[in-house]
Amino acid sequence: MASIFTSAQHLLGKHILLGVTGSIAAYKAAELASRLTQEGAQVDVILTPAAERFVAPLTFQSVTGRRAFTDAELWGGEAHVLHVGLGHSADLLVIAPCTANTLASLAHGNADNLLTITALAARCPILLAPAMDVGMFAHPATQENVRLLSERGVHFAGPGEGRMASGLTGKGRMIEPAELLGHIRLVLGKNGKLVGKQVVVTAGGTQEAIDPVRVITNRSSGKQGYALAQAAIDAGAQVTLITAPTALTAPVGARLIEVRTAAEMLEAVLAVSTRRVDALLMAAAVADFRPKKVAVDKLKKRDGIPQVELEAAPDVLETVAGQKSRKKRPRVVVGFAAESRDLIQNASAKLSSKKLDLIVANDIRAPDSGFGVDTNRVTLLYAVPTRFADGREESLPLMSKAEVAEAIIERVAAMLEAK
Ligand code: CTP
Repeated sequence: MASIFTSAQHLLGKHILLGVTGSIAAYKAAELASRLTQEGAQVDVILTPAAERFVAPLTFQSVTGRRAFTDAELWGGEAHVLHVGLGHSADLLVIAPCTANTLASLAHGNADNLLTITALAARCPILLAPAMDVGMFAHPATQENVRLLSERGVHFAGPGEGRMASGLTGKGRMIEPAELLGHIRLVLGKNGKLVGKQVVVTAGGTQEAIDPVRVITNRSSGKQGYALAQAAIDAGAQVTLITAPTALTAPVGARLIEVRTAAEMLEAVLAVSTRRVDALLMAAAVADFRPKKVAVDKLKKRDGIPQVELEAAPDVLETVAGQKSRKKRPRVVVGFAAESRDLIQNASAKLSSKKLDLIVANDIRAPDSGFGVDTNRVTLLYAVPTRFADGREESLPLMSKAEVAEAIIERVAAMLEAK
């Protein structure tokens, strides 16, 4: 099943060079090559001689549908320009796994195989996913090489902690392909439309305690909010994701703030909104009502059916968007309206009462839209006409939540540009 972050567009047409070096983690590179290809990237793989001992070029050719390069090409007919051509046309060079030896070669400018020659000739960003034994990564020589490369603007993903092939446990494992994909998106986003912009996204359904065991919550999965955070990262924004409990993994690069209740969400949103925030996207399903009193001990069946009295929970969006001080109000505030009837009327009432710039309305009764599912069908209502809307209303077709997120982020970028 496609991940909620799987985007129809993000990697489409991107040219990614994937360098594979001689580590037991080389097999994981095949999965990475496959996932990048599935997401629309053109993936050219270069294997070092040591990598070829772990995994065959044919493995990569089979998953990318393209020729995989090895040192055999270095001595072939077009070899004198191959490395330059590969290095110049790429959007990103990823070396995964990257051994201690290749790391040292890169730090010192050695050019002793097709991969290191290409890395020297490359003008694109470089991302390394180190893979080596604990002691090798901790060694001052490797640490110095990491520092040198970081100073030169080379990006690192990992290594992670865990059990090594040697049986030792510690830092040195190559990170998993799914996480690496997040790092690739983070680096590729660095020339997007929201570079230098601060974006705050809220997600998930808040939980209001009845007693130490039970909560009142809602059916929000957090999927649309997390997809928005990823889309903002893809566009190069600095993203803070304020999240109520969900079963999802946060996108790589997001600053994560975990909250549980509406009150905690309000506090977190207000705390970050004191800085200059460019956009607030309030995708969280925040409780409207909460128990007036939280029982200290677990309510017991033998004591009969409890009467839980409710009170109003704070409205985060109204509080933040309605702030008098312009310094405290994010420049663009986006709300979400989950409606089961009178979609447009209810959503446009929220647009004006909560003083929003944009509200994203969806009909939660449709089986392919709203809570839990991976797709959404939304209507956007704007406070002022934009180039996207006919008038102030724009209906988007049924899309994946990742596509909806991309569309919203594109519009937010345009609104910020117009301000
Ligand atoms: N919202 C909020 N704080 C709340 C309730 C909602 O910030 N206590 C935000 C949501 O994050 C969303 C927008 O307000 O962006 C609209 O939420 P929705 O639940 O559709 O509307 P409500 O204002 O709660 O109104 P109602 O439940 O009556 O439809």
